[in-house]
Amino acid sequence: MIQQPDWGDLALLDRVTSTLSSMPPLVTAAECDRLSEAVARVGRGDGFLLQGGDCAERFCESSPAEVRAKLAQLYGLAGAIRSATGCATVPLGRLAGQYGKPRSASHERIADGTVVPSYRGDAVNSPADDPGARDPDPARLLRAHECAQRVLRVVRDSWAGRPPVERAYVSHEALLLDYERPLVRGDYAASAHSIWIGERTRQPDGPHAAFAGSVANTVGVKLGPSTTPAQAVRLSRLLNPDGRAGRLVLIVRLGSTRVRSLLPDIVGEVSRRGRPVVWLCDPMHGNTTKMGAGPKTRPMEAILEEVVAFVRVMRAQRAHPAGLHLEMTPEDVTECITTPRPFCPAPELPRYRTACDPRLNSAQAAEVVDRFVSLL
Ligand code: PEP
Ligand code: CO
Repeated sequence: MIQQPDWGDLALLDRVTSTLSSMPPLVTAAECDRLSEAVARVGRGDGFLLQGGDCAERFCESSPAEVRAKLAQLYGLAGAIRSATGCATVPLGRLAGQYGKPRSASHERIADGTVVPSYRGDAVNSPADDPGARDPDPARLLRAHECAQRVLRVVRDSWAGRPPVERAYVSHEALLLDYERPLVRGDYAASAHSIWIGERTRQPDGPHAAFAGSVANTVGVKLGPSTTPAQAVRLSRLLNPDGRAGRLVLIVRLGSTRVRSLLPDIVGEVSRRGRPVVWLCDPMHGNTTKMGAGPKTRPMEAILEEVVAFVRVMRAQRAHPAGLHLEMTPEDVTECITTPRPFCPAPELPRYRTACDPRLNSAQAAEVVDRFVSLL
């Protein structure tokens, strides 16, 4: 099945999924509904949504102190949008479950030249440069659940003293169906307050869309440059047949150059013929490049340009630019580059620590949010 790991030990997988199905829910239906109500308000144009966090969360980075730092960044950026606009802004983490990664290539070459299976997130294998570490291990799904539980405890602690509209919620890509399906409780995905479907798995007749369609949570769908207006309309009808406000978030990740040409028709057609949606800008995933022989990076210029173009297109289409979806970390990393010099040798990225895609550091994330609010 598309983007699902080759688990190997299917007997163990069976035991793991039945253990997961007997676990208490990670989130409650009431919490999911509270998020949906907040997103519905955003959908009516009366608020914003800031979704962000690591590309790939690591099990080894889920101590209370680390999670508190991630939450502080998320609350800070949502607060910045709130103070600049005077509107409620919902903080939604890529947090407590962002442990499964889709990959374009099934294998990759590591430093010593060996070709090994690609890292697919901590819920599947280890990113270590050691071929044995790359074998998918079903037992990791249980560790993902334990970690998510620990992270959620810190998230709930952070709610104390905050009104419900200002609380942070958690979300992740619902990629690993062997994790998501056993965690359904009643009508809800109980793995997170909200889940999204990635660019590689958003086929309307595929298993991920079917999964998202079967749960009552707020769900997102990433829309990359191959999205046609008709596909976007179809997804909106499929995933929000009753036209519920706050049910469906379309996360646009077209890239800084294509957003201008592709987004107007997508938004126009969904507004005319589709169901109500909330539009978010992911200025990260359409702007990934390699500079020379260096690792994957993202130029700040392109990221900022996509944000600007997104807001302009939404305004021209009389749709609400509801917010941003960012890959970011409170750590002082150098993963996204500030000044692109395409014809120079690869820039130095001395603090490159991501397990997957390049993230914005605090200052860069703040700059992106500043640019967004300056356009509102
Ligand atoms: C991601 O959000 O990390 C991701 C893989 O995004 P996309 O599905 O848009 O490529
Ligand atoms: Co990513």
